[in-house]
Amino acid sequence: MAHRWTNDLSRDDVTPRSVWLNRRQILAGLAGAGAVGIGGPVAADDGLQPNTLEEIRSYNNFYEFGLGKEDPMRNAGAMVTEPWSIRVEGLVDRPGDYSLSDLTDGLTVEDRIYRFRCVEAWSMVIPWNGIELADILERVGVQEGARYVAFETVVQPEVMIGVQRRVIEFPYVEGLRIDEAMHPLTLLATGIYDEPMANQNGAPIRLVVPWKYGFKSIKSIVRISVVAEEPPTTWSRANPREYGFYANVNPQVDHPRWSQATERRIGGGLFNRRQDTLMFNGYEDEVAHLYDGMDLSRFI
Ligand code: MTE
Repeated sequence: MAHRWTNDLSRDDVTPRSVWLNRRQILAGLAGAGAVGIGGPVAADDGLQPNTLEEIRSYNNFYEFGLGKEDPMRNAGAMVTEPWSIRVEGLVDRPGDYSLSDLTDGLTVEDRIYRFRCVEAWSMVIPWNGIELADILERVGVQEGARYVAFETVVQPEVMIGVQRRVIEFPYVEGLRIDEAMHPLTLLATGIYDEPMANQNGAPIRLVVPWKYGFKSIKSIVRISVVAEEPPTTWSRANPREYGFYANVNPQVDHPRWSQATERRIGGGLFNRRQDTLMFNGYEDEVAHLYDGMDLSRFI
């Protein structure tokens, strides 16, 4: 299905051209006009280059593996990701321990090129492969009374130096309101650039919520709980003055210690200038209605 936002930046910008042309011929043969969604013209609304796979895999936040940006790349290789089991619980028709394939097989893997904005004011553009979280929630059956979805990251203390040193409280936990979780932009991503998710990026499956600061995008998920009450989240628990539950990208609301008005695009090269941060990270048309009537300077 061709979503409008997939045309944001074209696949031509993120795939070596020879590979892409080849693939496009295949797609054209198979799907005809159906390929338009990922092969359409560049609407270079922010005129920036998407990131390379090397950049995406070498500048990470994954505190379980250390605090430095290159620590996850160095240390996350030791994480065991096979087999992988995800516990689904709470207000669902079909709770249980699902293997990754039980949870995802047969569902459509979408190609989505999204802006990614960290609360620390750096950003990337990432070509994800992922399944709409709504499809997975539908598979397990959301019951009446469900208002939030909570997520939890795996804990493997023997290979996670950040867990051994207790740099923050683990397991890392995150949550979304149910309408945010069901929004078609929200993905559970299993790959980047059609490559399986690297461990440092949250293998084998991680959340992607492109209109929120990156810390909402919890990695290496082992538990999904559909619940009635707002669940705790790692950063709002660690520092409630600085981080809230919503964490929507908003250039008008500064972090207590720095401005959120601009961002530094990773890999911007020699003349890398800061660029303006966009309201809802550029997805305002798609998501602003979710927050009608809320004071966006208060619900951060
Ligand atoms: N998930 C877990 N389990 N642990 C983390 O430390 N860091 C978050 C988020 N998900 C984090 C996490 C933060 S702060 C960001 S910016 C993104 O992951 C970074 O994702 P990336 O490394 O794939 O770019």
